[in-house]
Amino acid sequence: MRAQIIGTGSCLPEKTVTNDFLSTIVDTSDEWISSRTGIRQRHISVQETTVSLSTEAARRAMEMAKVTAEKIDLIIVATCTADTLVPSTACLVQNEIGAVNATAFDLNAACAGFVFSMNVVDSMMQAGMCRTALVIGAETLSRIVDWKDRSTCVLFADGAGAVVARAAEGGVLGTTLGSDGSKGGTIYVKSRENYNPFVTEQKPTDYLFMDGGEVFKFAVKKIPEAIRETLAKAELTADDIDWYLLHQANARINESIAKRLKISIDKVPMNLDHVGNTSGGSVPILLDEANRKGLLKSGDKVVLAGFGAGLTWGVMILNWA
Ligand code: ACO
Repeated sequence: MRAQIIGTGSCLPEKTVTNDFLSTIVDTSDEWISSRTGIRQRHISVQETTVSLSTEAARRAMEMAKVTAEKIDLIIVATCTADTLVPSTACLVQNEIGAVNATAFDLNAACAGFVFSMNVVDSMMQAGMCRTALVIGAETLSRIVDWKDRSTCVLFADGAGAVVARAAEGGVLGTTLGSDGSKGGTIYVKSRENYNPFVTEQKPTDYLFMDGGEVFKFAVKKIPEAIRETLAKAELTADDIDWYLLHQANARINESIAKRLKISIDKVPMNLDHVGNTSGGSVPILLDEANRKGLLKSGDKVVLAGFGAGLTWGVMILNWA
């Protein structure tokens, strides 16, 4: 038995923030942001939290899947911006939706987190350890970006996407995961400093740091390689794939990946113009958008690919139900 997606959902914060607005708080412009990244606006949380966005996305996915909360036996939330260090976001979502029979935990692999989580679910389904899983990717990155740093605050955004997956024949056709901890300094956010009684030096809280150029180079090289590796495992060619749902960090990255794979850009839907980079939320939000638009047809072969801090990367090929 493999993981088969039977419902998708997503939730974005109510407030939208345009590039023009950002140009009033940092030295930037709509022209710079849209031409360098493809982003035109993003959703930023005011009242919403990682838990509230996750819960709403989960409810929408469960409604589409026609699955009640008691049927869910596993919840994984992919996030690097949990509201609480403990308990996990997944446990808080479990309580909100009343999934009393589920085991729940978070997984942190930054922007690759959703694809990593789908791999865990798929492996547990192959091992017969679960039958109906809720997989959520959710972030409130607006809490950890420095709103005075124009090189990052224009990129990141908030939102959640969710899927319900059931153990079925078919579903996942191939997967590849990887990490390179030696490049950990490329994107990082420090956790709370140690303020125990034995530490005398008190340091201010840090915000997200990213060496954008390094991440760009890594993504355009590693993701086509990982997709090719996964295609080979599934005995498919790049042309056999109907849709490439790639992490929404930068339109130029996705265009370069399409070029390297020699596939039409029409097979690479993007929503970063209105959603921005929601890290762990990115792939499942895009998946839900594509699904609700009716883009994904039964039997379509779909690539999901994420990459980000770690560095981490993950690819999964699905046979759409
Ligand atoms: N507005 C105006 N100018 C800016 C801005 C801005 N918002 N940000 C940077 N600049 C300036 C820089 O200061 C620099 O000026 P200089 O030439 O005078 O020094 C110039 O623009 C060029 O900056 P670059 O960083 O070289 O711009 P680049 O074309 O590389 O684009 C970007 C930067 C958009 C960040 C790109 O590198 C990128 O998208 N990288 C990948 C990010 C990514 O994929 N992240 C995913 C992982 S995130 C995660 O895991 C949480």
